[in-house]
Amino acid sequence: MKKKTKNNQQCNINLIWFYIITIFPKMFDAIIHYGVTGRAIQKKIINIQFFNPRDFSDNKYKSVDDRPYGGGPGMLMSVKPLYLSIKKAKSLLQDAMVVYLSPQGKKLHQKKILEIIKKKKIIFICGRYEGIDQRIIDYQVDEEWSIGDYVLTGGELAAMVIIDSISRLIPGVINKKSVEEDSFSHNLLDYPHYTRPKIIKNMHVPKILFSGDHEKIRIWRLKQALGKTWEKRPDLIKNANLKKEEKILLNAFKKNKKEK
Ligand code: ADE
Repeated sequence: MKKKTKNNQQCNINLIWFYIITIFPKMFDAIIHYGVTGRAIQKKIINIQFFNPRDFSDNKYKSVDDRPYGGGPGMLMSVKPLYLSIKKAKSLLQDAMVVYLSPQGKKLHQKKILEIIKKKKIIFICGRYEGIDQRIIDYQVDEEWSIGDYVLTGGELAAMVIIDSISRLIPGVINKKSVEEDSFSHNLLDYPHYTRPKIIKNMHVPKILFSGDHEKIRIWRLKQALGKTWEKRPDLIKNANLKKEEKILLNAFKKNKKEK
């Protein structure tokens, strides 16, 4: 949808819907009331709604956990309240992609985040306890995502991480140039940044950054990004399809390193 602003400029209105199934909606205050995501909600660029399985529990204690068949430690989320909350969210957000967050999911990376942004409507299921019944995953979930090879106590933090990383890519949420220069946006880590003061305990800001020569600064930054990626994430360099200029700069970085 396009809307005309006061000074007659065209601007894109991109609304992304996140419907979240969680027994801890209050945890999301961290992204709703603060920073970039908070502003995106205020500007109605993202819309977040919650569905709490506890509201769908029909027992006296409003419990939302149940014992696993076959025994073993820990509990699972009860099927019925979880299923009813998914059903409600789906009915209110038609054509949404349903995502279950778990360490068993596909590991996310920036490229995937750039694809996800096009989905526009996502229902996140935040598991708790030891997880959820496999039949919910098989019949209600479109994709299972993980934010890394470690185990969290629930999917809420993972959902917040993903919403944060998606939100900052929506036009109008943050400065376009800073998104373009992100780490990973070109399969490289970010170059080093410096601000005032010029000297901290005998550590100086690289002189080139005062030169005012934008081309020289671009080359220096690219060389640093290549070098840092080669040092810290050789896996990324291996898979990067480096252009001729980038290969030359990386070789120069390596040579400097050897000479030091
Ligand atoms: N829930 C628990 N651990 C998780 C992880 N690593 N990623 C996504 N959701 C999770």
